Amino acid sequence: VRLSDSGILVDIGYLAQCRNEGAQSDIQPLQSAAIGWSDDRIDFVGPETDLPFELRERTTHSAEGRTVIPGLVDCHTHLGFGGWRADEFRMRIEGKSYLEIAAAGGGIRKTMAQTRAASEEDLIRHCRTYLKQYLELGVTAVECKTGYGLSFEEELRLLRVYRKIGLEVPLDIVSTLLAAHVVPEPEECNKKCYIQMICDELIPAVAAEDLATFNDIFVEEGAFSADDARRILGAGQAHGLKAKLHIDQLGDSGGGALAAELRAISADHLEYTSEEGMNAMAQSGVVGVCLPFASLYLNQPPMKARSFIEAGASVAVATDFNPGSAPSFDLPLAMMLACTMSRMTPAEALKGATIIAARALNRDSQYGSIEVGKLANFAELSVDDVDHWMYHFRPNVCEATWIGGRPVHGLSTPPNS
Ligand code: NIG
Ligand code: FE
Repeated sequence: VRLSDSGILVDIGYLAQCRNEGAQSDIQPLQSAAIGWSDDRIDFVGPETDLPFELRERTTHSAEGRTVIPGLVDCHTHLGFGGWRADEFRMRIEGKSYLEIAAAGGGIRKTMAQTRAASEEDLIRHCRTYLKQYLELGVTAVECKTGYGLSFEEELRLLRVYRKIGLEVPLDIVSTLLAAHVVPEPEECNKKCYIQMICDELIPAVAAEDLATFNDIFVEEGAFSADDARRILGAGQAHGLKAKLHIDQLGDSGGGALAAELRAISADHLEYTSEEGMNAMAQSGVVGVCLPFASLYLNQPPMKARSFIEAGASVAVATDFNPGSAPSFDLPLAMMLACTMSRMTPAEALKGATIIAARALNRDSQYGSIEVGKLANFAELSVDDVDHWMYHFRPNVCEATWIGGRPVHGLSTPPNS
C-alpha cells in the first residue's frame, strides 16, 4: 500500500457510525472522532485520542469539526429515462389521477416512448448528469431500475447503459430489472406474451450477461397482479436475481404478506400496507422502503414507517427518482420528508438511507456504515448533529464526499502529509 492510498480524517465533531446492529434509532454517535483507511477500506474508527501512533504518520485531512456520516445510499431509483412529464404534474394538481393520466396515454408508457427515442449517448449523458449531482449530496451508491424499455432489446439496452456508466463513475451502481413495470401495450391479450417473454427470454439473457442484481415488479391495478409477481419473481430467483416489489402504493394488495412469501429482499412504497403485512415483513426480514416523494407528488397518504419500525421491521428511505411520481433525486430532502410525513426520527432516517438501504441492496457487508473493514465511503456535513440537519433543512450541507478513501466532491483541506 502506497502512502497516498492510506489516510486519516481527524477533527470530526460528530460521527454517526450506523452499524448494522441495535435499534434503527441507534446510529452509534461519537464525538471528537477520527477515521483511518488503508487502500479503500476503513481500518480505524474511534475517538481521535485513541488513534494509534503509526496512523498519525499518514496523509492527514481535517473535517474541521464537521459531522461525518456514511456515504448515503439511494436504494430505489428509475434513473435511466428520456423526457419529462411536467404536464402530468399540472394535470394532477388540476384534479386528474395518476391512473387516469396513464390510461389516457401518459404515465409510464409515455416515458417508454421517449426513452426508446433517446440514443445510448443521450441516456449515458443523462445518468452522468444526475450521478455527479448525487456526489454533491453525499450519495455514494445508487440503485438503478430499468422499466422504460419494456421490450427484450430495450430493457437490455438500459441495463447495458447502467453497466457502462457504472464503470465511469466512482459511485456503486446497482442494477435492477423492472421489465414488469407495465405491459408495453394496453391490450390485455398482450400481457400473457409479455410475461412469457420476460420469464423465458429476458431473465435468462440478463443472468447470462450478469447485467442485474435484482428483479422487480410493479403490483398494481393497471400493472401486474400478485400471481404475476409469483411467476416473474420466481423466474428471476431461479436465475439468481433477488426479488424486489413495488407494492401497496395506490391500494392494499396484500403486499407485506406477498413480499414475505416470496422472500423478497425489499418491498417498496407500502403506503396502504396493513398491520398484518407489517408483521409479516418484520418476521421475514424484508426491508420496507419508504418513498416520500411518490406519496407527496401523487398526493397519497405516506407510508406508516413509524408503525413498521414499532412492528420490528427495518425501514429504508429512498427517492424513487423518476419522471412521473418522483421527479427529484434529493435524498436528504426525502429523508426529511420521511421524518415529517412518515414519523421517522432523524437518526432512523439516517440509518434508513445508509446501512438499511445497503441491506436492501445486499451490499451491507461492503458499505453503509463507518466501521473497520468497510469501504471508506463517507460525507462531511456542515451541521452540528443529525437532529439539527433534518430540522433546519438547507439546500445542501455536504462539504465533501469520499469513496474508497478518495475525495470525489468538495474541497477538503489540503493534506499535511
Ligand atoms: O415507483 N410505481 C411505479 N413506478 C414508478 C412511477 C413511474 C412513472 O410514473 O414513470 C414509481 O412510483
Ligand atoms: Fe419506483
